[in-house]
Amino acid sequence: MNKQQLKTPLFDTLLNHAKRNVVSFHTPGHKNGRGIDKKLKDFTGQNIYGLDVTVFDEVDSLHDPIGPIKKAQELMAKAYGVEHSLFLVNGTSVGNIAMFLSACDPGDSIIISRSSHKSIMAGVILAGVWPIWIQPKIEQNLDIIFNTTYEQIKNALDTYPESRAVFVTCPTYNGVVTELKKIADLCHRRGKVLLVDEAHGPHLKFHKDLPMSAVDAGADLVVQSTHKILSALSQGSVLHFNSKLVDINRVKKIVSMLQTTSPSYFTLASLDVARKQAVFQGSAMLSKVMGAAEWARKEINHSITNMKCFTRAEMNTVGFDLDVTKLTINVTKTGLSGYEVDAILSKEYNIQVDCSDTFNLIAIMGIGSDKSDVVALVNALKDISKKYKGNQKNWILKIPSLSTEMVMTPREVFLSHDIKKIPLNKAVGHVSAQTLTPYPPGIPVVIPGERITQEICNYLLDMAAKGIRISGQEGDKLKMVKVFAN
Ligand SMILES: Cc1ncc(COP(=O)(O)O)c(C=O)c1O
Repeated sequence: MNKQQLKTPLFDTLLNHAKRNVVSFHTPGHKNGRGIDKKLKDFTGQNIYGLDVTVFDEVDSLHDPIGPIKKAQELMAKAYGVEHSLFLVNGTSVGNIAMFLSACDPGDSIIISRSSHKSIMAGVILAGVWPIWIQPKIEQNLDIIFNTTYEQIKNALDTYPESRAVFVTCPTYNGVVTELKKIADLCHRRGKVLLVDEAHGPHLKFHKDLPMSAVDAGADLVVQSTHKILSALSQGSVLHFNSKLVDINRVKKIVSMLQTTSPSYFTLASLDVARKQAVFQGSAMLSKVMGAAEWARKEINHSITNMKCFTRAEMNTVGFDLDVTKLTINVTKTGLSGYEVDAILSKEYNIQVDCSDTFNLIAIMGIGSDKSDVVALVNALKDISKKYKGNQKNWILKIPSLSTEMVMTPREVFLSHDIKKIPLNKAVGHVSAQTLTPYPPGIPVVIPGERITQEICNYLLDMAAKGIRISGQEGDKLKMVKVFAN
């Protein structure tokens, strides 16, 4: 093991600084915690506030690092085997936007799955690109949306050879991993940049039995939420660079433009120590987490007749891999929705899952997870499956065809003032000026710049009639939609 990786230059610098109890005439205003409200300080203790400093020579600058931040980023890059790693303090959301702006010029087109995180629309609008959407495939038996396949990307590249880049989310929120190595090779054979949202995969690199990480697959730019699965504090993410097609100086400039000039040094230091922990203890810690997750998966599938948690073997049979630390628990056979089971778990069992939808709960495990956590979850689910009987609603997870005509770039519509509101049932043929995302499936059914089809209009009318929540609608019910006025 590389001894250099034992070092935590940024954390050590901050610790030394905090211990010196330096008289502070710099921001933040709490002055090493002295001014923090008592109620908060009684809970946290005083020490952590000594780490909450701002830019000065000793602690380095995130925007032009030459000291401990530079060293910490270099160690991160070595740990992942990439050329450069840049620390982010606004999560993978800002990393996704930075990838779009780094890889594309205004007017370029980029291939993207429609089932991407909402920060993707911000990237598309800010970069002024033409999105080429890949229709997400739905697995009706499992009530989940699959990952983008190699074939889908190859077809999109064959149809739109002018595209500049391909954007893939891998793993998905459900932990489903696509054939990233094949996709990376294909992109590079055709001179295309591969961008990967690996928000849910910062740990993949550190265990041999987990699916291949995007950096090993050969992606050009990869962004990871170190805070989601490894032990960095919230907002702590990393953008990895390994590309012959993108200019690193442009990436650095863009990341700097998008980030605060007052980053949380506590979060930055947590990235430094999370990296060291992952390198030296990651494999052993993740073995335990994976073992606990697999135990829970088996227990749910064998002992709870009306719940189901799909397995890695099942994913393999349909051409995908699975990060087993993610538990997607389908509860439709209980007659309850995922939302209802989520609320019961929270109120009656003191358990909070990461998210739920009509069909599923998603329980995310991280490097700090313990077997006792999944024992509590499984026991609670067993209890719920006996105690509660819902009314089967026969919901079906479906989406309309989203391979629609992009008439204007989302940016053009976003910046336009020529917008009007019309009734939804008169919207067919108009160019949408807003994003509408029904939950489920959580996929934008309409985005700015896109021609609204009859099928999409019918789908939205049906969703609205069923009282499904549609993010982006104004008012309680979706009656009117915003369209381009000309
Ligand atoms: C697939 C995916 N990408 C990006 C993000 C945004 O990550 P962050 O919360 O680190 O900004 C999320 C958050 O849930 C996500 O699920």
